[in-house]
Amino acid sequence: MEQRTSSPYPGKDRPVLAVIGVLLVVSTVVFAVTDHRKDWRWYQAEFRKMVAEKLGEEKAATVPAGMKQIWVKDLGRADRCITCHQGILWKGFEDAEHPWKTHPAEPLRTHPVEDYGCTACHGGQGWAVESDKAHGPIHFWEEPVLGKAMGEAYSLQGSDKAALMQMNCNVCHRYDRETKGADLINLAKKLVNEKGCRACHVVNGRGGTIGPDLTYVGDKAAEQYDMSRLGGQKTAFAWHVAHFKNPKEIVPDTVMPAFGFGTKEAQALAALTLSWRRAPVPATYRPGVPRTDPQTPEEIAEEERMKHGPGAWFVSTGCFVCHSVSSLGVKSAAQVGPDLSTAVEDTQSRFGKTVDDFIRNPTGTMSVVLSRQIILTDAEKEVAIQKLREAFAEHQKQKAAAAAAR
Ligand code: HEC
Ligand code: HEC
Ligand code: HEC
Ligand code: HEC
Ligand code: HEC
Repeated sequence: MEQRTSSPYPGKDRPVLAVIGVLLVVSTVVFAVTDHRKDWRWYQAEFRKMVAEKLGEEKAATVPAGMKQIWVKDLGRADRCITCHQGILWKGFEDAEHPWKTHPAEPLRTHPVEDYGCTACHGGQGWAVESDKAHGPIHFWEEPVLGKAMGEAYSLQGSDKAALMQMNCNVCHRYDRETKGADLINLAKKLVNEKGCRACHVVNGRGGTIGPDLTYVGDKAAEQYDMSRLGGQKTAFAWHVAHFKNPKEIVPDTVMPAFGFGTKEAQALAALTLSWRRAPVPATYRPGVPRTDPQTPEEIAEEERMKHGPGAWFVSTGCFVCHSVSSLGVKSAAQVGPDLSTAVEDTQSRFGKTVDDFIRNPTGTMSVVLSRQIILTDAEKEVAIQKLREAFAEHQKQKAAAAAAR
């Protein structure tokens, strides 16, 4: 058995313990008082007062008390936001401050809160009942509320500072060509079509292989980016914005072209690409089934027409994904590369090579294209050279005819 030893400070431990005890009580009280204003109970009490003032005591008695949550089984979400944001579904608090303010009606008309909760659109940690934990930021892409505060932290251009939320909208709405209420994403989708990103990238199962498949690029962790050439904020969002503005500045050996995007366009594209995530969302929550992103009937008809015209070879070989051949009636939607009607002349001035040399030993983007996306045998390369000569001959013929007509 251990011997009980007496205290080395005889007679002093009791007062010391007493002082510590008093300090604990005092600090607990101070903490409780300062924390009181941030507590959900305080927000609830205030809301009850507001309802009483505006709508009478009887109504105030119906304000629910205690911790509240919306459980959406299909989305795997239990959102307690309404513990504080009690005014969401009440009419008459449109001008109140957060968290008591009435929610804008439109988004909840098509997405009732009992089926969608809050965080599917807003982000945030659904289970948290302390304001800073509920709103984040903790991990940027999944957790924080993508609201005005986040938009300001990211120097988001345009009047809608809460537009980053649209990244969450597009997790479900990715197959829409356009989504009402998601202008930032709509702008980016338009750019993806106009600039022909699919010439080099697969998106939703369709596109080229020069660049990486972008279908789930939003799942890439921030640590997987090489941030070494990035100034300022080192986040995935900032990386994409800088990369869209000037790909070579971030990835020196890339063949992705600089499209001359302004900040707003680059931010829109960054938001869109980061919304391309594998979503734990059942099919019924994703509009636009079948879940592909098909070409429009006009696009398909145009391709059919070109496939049977004089430029058929450029279409069936896949060159038309990036190049128009206007002399043969081939029009590329993307026009990532130059018109091939005059390639016979242009390779000489642009690359200091004959077109034969260029096709046999390509440099720049075409060296990647011909080694990764369109693999041609030596015999097929000779066909390519022949076809480029035909296109040029046709171009000269048309030019001469136009001159004669004048
Ligand atoms: C502890 C109470 C509390 C909880 C829980 C809470 N909020 Fe808030 N919320 C507030 C307060 C207070 C404000 C206003 C001050 C501020 O912005 O922090 C606010 C503001 C907001 C705003 C507007 C600010 C902006 O940046 O646009 C949004 C959106 C929001 N909350 C969403 C949510 C969501 C989503 C949840 C659930 C994940 C949630 N809140 C949970 C108290 C809370
Ligand atoms: C369908 C998506 C969606 C759902 C679900 C949703 N919201 Fe919203 N919420 C929006 C949109 C869109 C806005 C308007 C954004 C803006 O213009 O500032 C908004 C605005 C807000 C605001 C700011 C209001 C203002 O006037 O500044 C708060 C706070 C908020 N929501 C909280 C919630 C809470 C809490 C829930 C869950 C009960 C919820 N929202 C559910 C889409 C949604
Ligand atoms: C969890 C998935 C999900 C999220 C998040 C979501 N939506 Fe939806 N949304 C849907 C579904 C499902 C429909 C119903 C589509 C239908 O019935 O055709 C819908 C319908 C709509 C409609 C009506 C479409 C129509 O044709 O009438 C609009 C507009 C819309 N959403 C915009 C938004 C915006 C803006 C956001 C973000 C603030 C958002 N949605 C967030 C799944 C979602
Ligand atoms: C000529 C081919 C080409 C075109 C056209 C092109 N890209 Fe790229 N892209 C690449 C290559 C190659 C890479 C890989 C090297 C790099 O990161 O720059 C890349 C990288 C990317 C990345 C980063 C992917 C990752 O995993 O980090 C994104 C996002 C991207 N491109 C989006 C786009 C968008 C959006 C467009 C249209 C506006 C576009 N690209 C047009 C070739 C292209
Ligand atoms: C993924 C896009 C892409 C595809 C597909 C593609 N090219 Fe190109 N090509 C380019 C780009 C971009 C250039 C401009 C040179 C550069 O940036 O390196 C180019 C340049 C050329 C040139 C030099 C033209 C000039 O005027 O200098 C020729 C010739 C050429 N391509 C032929 C072809 C042929 C033939 C095919 C089909 C077998 C093809 N390309 C498919 C992107 C593409």
